[in-house]
Amino acid sequence: MPEHLLAASRDPSEARYEETLRPRRLGEYIGQEKVTENLGVFIAAALSRGEPLDHVLLFGPPGLGKTTLAHIIAAEMGVNIQVTSGPVLERAGDLAAILTNVEERGVLFIDEIHRLAPAVAEILYPALEDFVLDLVVGSGPAARTMRLALPRFTLVGATTRAGLLPPPLRDRFGIVHRLDFYEPDALQKIVERSAALLGVELGEGASAEIARRSRGTPRIANRLLRRVRDFAHARGRATLDMETATFGLERLEVDRFGLDELDRRLLLTLIEQYGGGPVGIRALAATLGEDLGTLEDIYEPYLLQSGFLQRTPRGRVATERARRHLGFPALGAQGQLFRGEP
Ligand SMILES: Nc1ncnc2c1ncn2[C@@H]1O[C@H](COP(=O)(O)OP(=O)(O)OP(=O)(O)O)[C@@H](O)[C@H]1O
Ligand SMILES: [Mg+2]
Repeated sequence: MPEHLLAASRDPSEARYEETLRPRRLGEYIGQEKVTENLGVFIAAALSRGEPLDHVLLFGPPGLGKTTLAHIIAAEMGVNIQVTSGPVLERAGDLAAILTNVEERGVLFIDEIHRLAPAVAEILYPALEDFVLDLVVGSGPAARTMRLALPRFTLVGATTRAGLLPPPLRDRFGIVHRLDFYEPDALQKIVERSAALLGVELGEGASAEIARRSRGTPRIANRLLRRVRDFAHARGRATLDMETATFGLERLEVDRFGLDELDRRLLLTLIEQYGGGPVGIRALAATLGEDLGTLEDIYEPYLLQSGFLQRTPRGRVATERARRHLGFPALGAQGQLFRGEP
């Protein structure tokens, strides 16, 4: 089980299970309609011209379906996909070896592309722009560059931190899509699809309940479904009904907004120790004893999006919604406490 049940990042033990549940084609991919509609159009156009698809950059919080989409793009184009990631490509030569091996119109998927070393990114630029590789042969005064033609390929880059991408790299993607947290309806459909694939029978309302508490993230929805199913088994029930789902989710300490223990601790710390903010994210991370990157990448996006937290130039602020949710009295416009008088 992941360290935090609601952490959107993938736990290695989930790999096999995720593989089973991953949609394979665009038509199976639920939600993110704008992204899938656009991609569908661009893919059809590229196919009809017999050309590679433009390079695609997918960004957004973890667990929303970036890797899934990269595989779908290759499947829809009818080509192979080569998978690598920013931190794995240590030297320019590592990338050069892969680039010379991609098939014509094939897909190269670079995950965590914001972590590409500058020297590696350098050789990627001409490859993306002109499908050529500039190699330096020899060293010292005898060194010269050799230009090698590459197959025309499609780079699909994925990142949770688009802001960390060097602008020259970002500019070379013709298609840029941001994945957003899923609407409850879409998430509910994802839970129902996954349940069917896992052979879990759902009672009325169970999928909606799981979806509501999954912080807009398919990976978490699938994880909660799997955990809650165990409660149905433990109770000897063939159907995962709403009552069991709710019981399981409560036992897992996932509240009705999908906040977990760390979310609540973060908001509590902000309200009790920093008067609701503003406070810098670094100070907050230090007080919580949590890693800064984990807070920024995994916890903050959902708290911001769901209106519990606000980002201001002077730091993070807990919202009225957060105060209410945690049982604090509301604050007035000037920040005084409302005592409840008319
Ligand atoms: N649109 C979708 N419809 C159905 N299931 C989905 C969808 N998007 C994602 N999933 C499910 O969520 C899981 C996580 O998705 P994926 O691995 O593609 O996320 P990611 O954005 O690449 O995350 P990370 O940033 O951690 O790499 C997948 O295994 C898949 O089962
Ligand atoms: Mg991924």
